Amino acid sequence: MSLFGLDGKKALIVGGGRGMGEATALHLAQAGCDIAVLDNQQDRAELVAGEVEKLGRRAIPIVADILDEESVRRAVTEAEAKLGGLDILVTIVGQALFKPLIDVTLDEWDSEQARNLRYFFVTARAVAQSMIARDVQGSIVCISSIDGVVGAPMHAAYGAAKAGLVHLVKSMAAEWGRNGIRVNSVAPGVITTPRLPETPQSLAMVEQSVIPLGRPGTTNEIAGAALFLASGLSSYVTGHTIMVDGGWMASNIFDPRIFEVKKSL
Ligand SMILES: NC(=O)c1ccc[n+]([C@@H]2O[C@H](COP(=O)([O-])OP(=O)(O)OC[C@H]3O[C@@H](n4cnc5c(N)ncnc54)[C@H](O)[C@@H]3O)[C@@H](O)[C@H]2O)c1
Repeated sequence: MSLFGLDGKKALIVGGGRGMGEATALHLAQAGCDIAVLDNQQDRAELVAGEVEKLGRRAIPIVADILDEESVRRAVTEAEAKLGGLDILVTIVGQALFKPLIDVTLDEWDSEQARNLRYFFVTARAVAQSMIARDVQGSIVCISSIDGVVGAPMHAAYGAAKAGLVHLVKSMAAEWGRNGIRVNSVAPGVITTPRLPETPQSLAMVEQSVIPLGRPGTTNEIAGAALFLASGLSSYVTGHTIMVDGGWMASNIFDPRIFEVKKSL
């Protein structure tokens, strides 16, 4: 575990109550972290905090709403007070509205920015202010998306917000690097989660897609990247976005299997 350099570190997981957040909380706990599990669903926060405790680490559930700056500030203060500081922040919460851009209302646009981009600014700033005041060399990780790197037809407001995250981690990394704070993002491709469970149709779609690994990713595979970015293994990595997408962004629309088809013609 000392390879990660995380023994006794304190982490706040925002949206830690299920899926990628739950997996990240458990990965960090197994690597030696004490965990504050923030969620707007009390039962989810308590459940995951209980799972962390079973791994032998300290855990506190925190109920807060990421859309409310005061609620976020109170949560950061509570996490620091109860855990005895904060070294790591991972933000998971996100929402995608699927709708033709032509029909998107201003309220919907603002909601997508608030739930994906604005709250990360609010949370990361609150945590960074405290890290700087306490002279903590910390790591901040958010979950962006491949939709923030390429176009996002039918969910363009989400894509724009995620692109904002990809950019914001660079600016934060540049502004806070001399304070010893690293800031990075993980960009998932298609990941099976409690909100997006696997179905025969979704599996068939992914299998027929140009995703080189030919399968959806898992919440543990996102948690692995978040753990890497939170840990000392990535101590010289900041301002970057790691794609966890089965190679999707490395491929183009020409599926290599087309050459098999051509050979048979
Ligand atoms: N599943 C995919 O294929 C995929 C692909 C790309 C990016 N992502 C991103 O991955 C992240 C996780 O997605 P998910 O579907 O697992 O998330 P999710 O909907 O399961 O949400 C994670 C947790 O956040 C909590 N939450 C929701 N709103 C909240 C609020 N206002 N305040 C506090 N907590 C709140 C939920 O209760 C939940 O426990 C998102 O940022 C999403 O955009 C997912």
